Amino acid sequence: MMDLNKLEKSFNTDIPQTEPTTAYFNVISRCNAGCRYCLDWKNNSNVNTDVSIQKIEEILTSLKKLGVIEVAFSGGEPYLRRDILDILRLAKNMGFVVRVITNGSAFTDKDMYKTIESGISKIGISIDSINATKFELIRGLNLDRVKSNIEKLVHLREQSHKTLDLSLYVTITKLNIEDLIPLAKYAQMLDVKIQYQPVHFSGTGLEDYILDNLWPNDQEINNITSVIYELIAMQKTVNNIGNRPEYLAQIPVFFRQKTFYPTNRCYVAYVDVVIDQDLGVRPCWSMFPVGFLTNHSLEELWVSEKMREMRSIIRLQQCPGCLYSCHINKKHVSLPPVPLQT
Ligand SMILES: C[S@@+](CC[C@H](N)C(=O)[O-])C[C@H]1O[C@@H](n2cnc3c(N)ncnc32)[C@H](O)[C@@H]1O
Ligand code: SF4
Ligand code: SF4
Repeated sequence: MMDLNKLEKSFNTDIPQTEPTTAYFNVISRCNAGCRYCLDWKNNSNVNTDVSIQKIEEILTSLKKLGVIEVAFSGGEPYLRRDILDILRLAKNMGFVVRVITNGSAFTDKDMYKTIESGISKIGISIDSINATKFELIRGLNLDRVKSNIEKLVHLREQSHKTLDLSLYVTITKLNIEDLIPLAKYAQMLDVKIQYQPVHFSGTGLEDYILDNLWPNDQEINNITSVIYELIAMQKTVNNIGNRPEYLAQIPVFFRQKTFYPTNRCYVAYVDVVIDQDLGVRPCWSMFPVGFLTNHSLEELWVSEKMREMRSIIRLQQCPGCLYSCHINKKHVSLPPVPLQT
């Protein structure tokens, strides 16, 4: 449980009084998909530039020392790494709560079996539509393959009797508004969780493209609002929608304002840490790196002057302002209550 007094003290002084609890670790920047809102699939790095498992172990050791509890491995597409299972097992054996986030298309049946057997806690699979044409248009992947893998994971989970959190991650754009409820029903049918977040443009390198092609117009934001209220209503009878209702209610607000700040303060730079494939360390997805693990230790960067500057930028609400669910959906982040629907 987060100590809110310590968080508040950290926030007011720009000096951490707490340890980060979650690390998001991008262990690869290559990808086999073609998502319209992400540039990773255009990255032409190769296997020789992947951060080595030895370096990953070193970083995990620093994360452990720093007090991190959960490590979420992401990318790029993590399952393009041949040693991803070794990485997951390593983190699990070091005592972390381990999550992996995948596009669901790059693993084999054996990878899925071994991932579940590794005893990790969570697998997040991204899926934005259950219409094959639209899915391919948005993510450049074959829907049948991804759905079949999701369903195999559900089956393997049942067989293994392991308590594994399987979650579908949905990125909302103007292209998939009518898919949001069918996706919730699909998740419910499979007994997996589902989590939504709006598309972001800040820091993606695709700002103009996203705003011109993926951002909903006023009418579409109204449609999103109706869908959001339907999801909030569904939460009264189903418990697999992983977003807080207050978070869901802010999605149309974010689309209207193109930015969002939690009520009073964003504590992210005291509870989360993002590590990129190039070993840059960032306070959150929307901000620039404060330094690199190639020439500084994580412990140094966590309390560095540069990180302190970032924290003061956040305190002054001069960060881009986002609604990334991994940061803002968290319980200790204060959000306005769900307004009554008029
Ligand atoms: C960057 S991907 C990496 C893991 C894996 N390749 C995948 O797609 O799940 C992690 C999550 O970020 C989401 N994402 C990528 N670009 C985004 C953007 N511009 N705005 C919001 N979410 C985004 C993806 O849809 C995915 O759910
Ligand atoms: S699958 Fe993930 S990493 Fe790949 S392009 Fe899509 S969002 Fe980016
Ligand atoms: S960009 Fe978002 S997560 Fe990052 S500090 Fe600002 S509000 Fe918080």
